[in-house]
Amino acid sequence: MTDRLIIFDTTLRDGEQAPGIALTPDEKVAIAHQLGKLRVDVLEAGFAASSPGDFEAVSRIATEVRGPVIASLARAHPDDIDRAAEALAAAERFRIHVFMSTSQIHMEKMLRMTPEEVLKASVEGVKRARQYTNDVEFSPQDATRTDHDFLIEVCRAAVEAGATTINIPDTVGYATPSDFVELMQRAFREVKGDRDDVIMSVHCHNDLGLAVANSLSSIHAGARQIEGAINGIGERAGNTSIEEVIMAVRTRQDVFGVDVGADTTQLYETSRLVSRLTGYPVQYNKSVVGRNAFAHESGIHQHGVLRDRLTYEIMDAASVGQVAGQIILGKHSGRAGFADALDKLGIVLEEDAFARAFEKFKQLADRKVQIGEDELRAIVEEEAYHVSGDIVLLGLHVTGGNDVTPSATVVLNVAGATKSFTGEGDGMVHAAFAAIKEGFGIDARLVDYRVVPVTSGADAMAEVNVVVRVGGDTFAGRALHTDVVEGSAEAFVEALNKASS
Ligand code: KIV
Ligand code: ZN
Repeated sequence: MTDRLIIFDTTLRDGEQAPGIALTPDEKVAIAHQLGKLRVDVLEAGFAASSPGDFEAVSRIATEVRGPVIASLARAHPDDIDRAAEALAAAERFRIHVFMSTSQIHMEKMLRMTPEEVLKASVEGVKRARQYTNDVEFSPQDATRTDHDFLIEVCRAAVEAGATTINIPDTVGYATPSDFVELMQRAFREVKGDRDDVIMSVHCHNDLGLAVANSLSSIHAGARQIEGAINGIGERAGNTSIEEVIMAVRTRQDVFGVDVGADTTQLYETSRLVSRLTGYPVQYNKSVVGRNAFAHESGIHQHGVLRDRLTYEIMDAASVGQVAGQIILGKHSGRAGFADALDKLGIVLEEDAFARAFEKFKQLADRKVQIGEDELRAIVEEEAYHVSGDIVLLGLHVTGGNDVTPSATVVLNVAGATKSFTGEGDGMVHAAFAAIKEGFGIDARLVDYRVVPVTSGADAMAEVNVVVRVGGDTFAGRALHTDVVEGSAEAFVEALNKASS
């Protein structure tokens, strides 16, 4: 019988730790619902004790999302564990994921704890988590740079204390497939042994580009859970890409001998949603979910594929939900055509959201000749997650060019009154931001700014993402537009509205 590989998704926890990502609780819940549709087994919703926002997201996901086991990360500290349990209480099934650093450098420089203290805190952490649930995962952070004997000692103690999953993280992406397999084989032998109630898991980072390879190799050493994030997002170079693991295991069952419970046809949609809401673009040639993953350019390849798809394709695009776009709308398309297109894409909107999306569609269709599937999805997502605040952008006028200092005038509706503000900058976008800042009267620092075309072509729509820091907090804004300066201004207004709410 084929063994089951557990897919542990940490897009909303480790993935969300990537720089420049600032998801709202609503956006996290939307991603969690999509991960539920993808049928991941475990969904790490956040790190409940890390902030009130994370607590809210974990508890809302625990309340609203059904299907996956919902997990929260927690340090091996009583307050963290209690907070995780509190946030998870409403879940159908939940897991507390306790972690503790075990490498010499982390213990000495970060924790300032001795190995004996680390061992004791790990055991106490697992025992405390077990008071709330039978499903407890333990992770020795920086495992691959930990002294192996000590690593085994801590993991064995965690199992004795009640941990049911032992996860071996390659926290800094240092391992290679061969040394990782060797370590996993030893951990499997000496930690799990013949205990059927313990699952060995892996959690790899991608600093050397080896996260997926390391994760998959460890299946041969007995790992039956792989952790990762959609599109491979995460700290630094990111985490294992969940979509790559799922498709590798499905496509090469002859090699891995395990299967997953995922609905692979949801992969593309999940990737797009994560990309859109995080503002992290998916590289064109990314395996499985990249827009070129099933595109054939050279004549020889096209010829082969026309005769028989299998000449150059090892997976079917439809099996990951990448289907050729056949929907084209334009400025003459009406409400019925728009509704029909959404229907074909399987998108269901409430009346209000439909009206907003239709309005945005009309605005964009007026400026652009054709609106395809990618653009439609972008419009819907933009309207579904748009946060309208107290201040509304009514107009923007920018001037600039050779030898002229770029300047901008914005017209804002502030508490019912229409007011104009001006600003200057190094470029037109910068000038627009200066004018908007003036209008909000907030000291905001722009920490991230990204413009991603939704489709190609001179009249392409662009999605603009901005992240601002106000005090110690970051806020993201997003907008979709055919004009980059106007889109930038709208995204900036959204971020500042969030900051001032
Ligand atoms: O990379 C890591 O070590 C982690 C742990 C908290 C599992 O994310
Ligand atoms: Zn990690």
